[in-house]
Amino acid sequence: MAQGDREWYTQFVCDSVARIREITGSARAIVGISGGVDSTVAAVLVHRAIGGKLIPVMIDNGLLREGEIDFVVSSFEGLGIDLRVVDASSRFLARLAGVRDPEAKRKIIGEEFIRVFEEEAAKYQDVRFLVQGTIRSDVVESGTSVEDVEEDAKQDTGDQRPAQLVKSHHNVGGLPEQMDLELLEPLRDLYKEQVRLVGEELGLPKPLIYRHPFPGPGLAVRVLGEVTQEKLDILRKAQAVLDREIIKSGWYDRLWQYFCVLPDVRTVGVKEGGRTCGHLVAIRAVLSSDAMIAKWAPIPHDLLDRIALKITEEVPQVNRVVYDITSKPPGTIEWE
Ligand code: XMP
Repeated sequence: MAQGDREWYTQFVCDSVARIREITGSARAIVGISGGVDSTVAAVLVHRAIGGKLIPVMIDNGLLREGEIDFVVSSFEGLGIDLRVVDASSRFLARLAGVRDPEAKRKIIGEEFIRVFEEEAAKYQDVRFLVQGTIRSDVVESGTSVEDVEEDAKQDTGDQRPAQLVKSHHNVGGLPEQMDLELLEPLRDLYKEQVRLVGEELGLPKPLIYRHPFPGPGLAVRVLGEVTQEKLDILRKAQAVLDREIIKSGWYDRLWQYFCVLPDVRTVGVKEGGRTCGHLVAIRAVLSSDAMIAKWAPIPHDLLDRIALKITEEVPQVNRVVYDITSKPPGTIEWE
């Protein structure tokens, strides 16, 4: 049975479920859900094995897109999984107040996430495992040598069993070092495309499995400079318009990522005969296969025209829209 076969994924799920049950016994496990593909597939796989003994937690850091929590919660509901949402948005925003440096923002968001997650985990008894959606590329990026991974890959056989489910040391994904939990990483040996096929095997809806990546620090790296509630609200509204137009046009599946950026630049405009001083919104849309290199996407002019029109019509604080025509390199995908 080769890894490209449907049966391989059926077998993978079956073997993983058995192994996870064997490893966890009667203990409970906790998982942080980001809304991304990897944590979702890992959670659903572990839920298949241990049901209600898995505690899935989603932290609302106040930096998510409009409708994101509802989308993820209802997707999990559809799979019969009760997702707990922790609203920590005011904590994150308070800690970000006055901070302009992109790396400082990332650090604060990472630290705060750990704190909130630890506080949440401490509320439950008998939690012994932390589930993470670590995949093979994370292992390579986190310092395990490429040779190790390639050596592992050579040993992959058609009927390979999920061998390395538990790693005793912490920690690839940035979760608490000092938490006394064992790491359960059921997707550690898989590449992204394989994770998606496991997701299909588990019956996850396609919009969840084929979502574009979204950065952990969320909209904080798309509101340039200081993050404020007001700027987040403007960016969220503009992003919702962009989402609607990109999906309607059929471009979603052709793009690697697309998003709005609020560079905190005011420009002069004109509306109903009077001058305005409004925000500039930049649109970024790229083609890529791994985010290492990316080409700006040749979105048709009439679609760009419609996006600019709709954003300026529907988001009153915005009076100018520009399109980013920089590839990576020399640009990065995100602006911060
Ligand atoms: P860049 O901007 O470096 O982004 O070209 C490459 C990919 O990584 C995502 N990205 C992040 N993801 N935390 C994340 O989880 C981050 O701090 C972060 N910064 C960038 C970006 O969206 C793109 O997919």
